Amino acid sequence: MPQRVMTNAELEEMVDTSDEWIVSRTGIRERRIAADDQATTDLAAEAVRDLLRRTGTDASDVDLLIVATTTPDYPFPPCAPIVGTMTGMDHVAAYDTNAVCSGFMYGIAQATGMVESGMARRAVVVGAETLSRIMNWDDRATCVLFADGAGAVMIEADGGEPGTGVVGVEFGSDGTGFADLWVPAGGTRSPVSPQTPHADTCIQMNGREVFRFATRILVESSQRLLAEAGMTIADVDLMVAHQANERILDHASERMGIDRAKVVMNLDRLGNTSSASIPLALADAVDTGMLEEGALVLMVGFGAGLTWGSVLVRWEPRT
Ligand code: COA
Repeated sequence: MPQRVMTNAELEEMVDTSDEWIVSRTGIRERRIAADDQATTDLAAEAVRDLLRRTGTDASDVDLLIVATTTPDYPFPPCAPIVGTMTGMDHVAAYDTNAVCSGFMYGIAQATGMVESGMARRAVVVGAETLSRIMNWDDRATCVLFADGAGAVMIEADGGEPGTGVVGVEFGSDGTGFADLWVPAGGTRSPVSPQTPHADTCIQMNGREVFRFATRILVESSQRLLAEAGMTIADVDLMVAHQANERILDHASERMGIDRAKVVMNLDRLGNTSSASIPLALADAVDTGMLEEGALVLMVGFGAGLTWGSVLVRWEPRT
C-alpha cells in the first residue's frame, strides 16, 4: 500500500461531503493514495517483492507473471514486463489483463489454467491500481470511493491431491452496462483532444445501477459456483469479496446466509482499490490469522464491464 493515508476529513475539505455520509453509505473511513512519483508498476513490484520474501521464492523460479490492472503506467507496453524486470524475473512470460474490479479473478483463472496444463510451473498474479490518477477530485460521487494499492499471490504446480488449490471458477459479463462505470475518453472510441472535458478522462459511475448489479451478482455467482462444486455456503470458511462498499457486502452476506465473521472486510482502511482489493484483503486475512491452511476460500470480484468472476480455493500457504 502507498504510505500516504487520505482520511474522510481531508475529502470534506475538497468536495461537499461529510465523514458521516461516506461512512454510513460506504463503510470507508480512509484510503491510501500513491505519491506523485509512484505509478502502478511501483506498487505492483513492491507487492511482488513482499510475496517472494514471504514464500521464500527466488525470482528466477517464477515463469509466468500476470498483472491485473485498469490503470497501467502507459497505454502500452503492459505493466507486467516492467514489473518482472524490477523484481529480477529475467525473461519471464509477462502480460497484463484488464477486467477492472474482476481482473484479479480472471488473472487467477488464467494462471491456474496455464499451470494445470503444464504451460507454466510457477505463476505470480498481481492486482495493482493507481486509480487516483483517473479520479475526478471534483466529483463527490466517485472520489470518496476509489483508492490505490497492490497485492499478489503465487500459483504453483505441486502435483497435489485433488480438491486442493483452485477448486472451481464462475465468470460472466454483461456489456449492456458498459457505461454504468467507465472512463469515457482516452481510448480509440474517443481519443483525448484539447476539447475533451477533464471529467471525461476520469471515472464516471451510475452508482445506483452498479449497487443493484453488485448485490445481485455477488450472490448469484457465488451460488452458481458452489452448486457446481457440489457445496453450500456452509462449507465456505472465508469469503473474500471485492471491497467496493460495506453495504454491498452486508446485503450479499445476509442473503447468502454466511456468518459475518467469515467475511473479510478492510475497505474501511483501504477503500475500493479495484483489481488490488481481493489480494489486499487476502493479505490482511493471512496477517490477522483469519485465513488458515486448508480453509475453503470463496473469492468474488465484480465491477465495470460489467464483469464478474468467482473462484473457490482450498488455501495452501507455503509460509
Ligand atoms: N457526499 C455527500 N453526498 C453525496 C455524495 C458524497 N460523497 N455522493 C453523492 N451524494 C449525494 C447525491 O448527490 C444525492 O443527492 P441528491 O439526493 O440531492 O441528488 C444523494 O447523496 C444520494 O445519492 P445516491 O446516489 O442515491 O446515494 P446512494 O445511497 O445510492 O449511495 C453510492 C451512493 C455511490 C454510495 C452507492 O450508489 C453505491 O455504493 N454504489 C455502488 C458503487 C460501487 O461500489 N462502485 C464500484 C463497484 S466495483
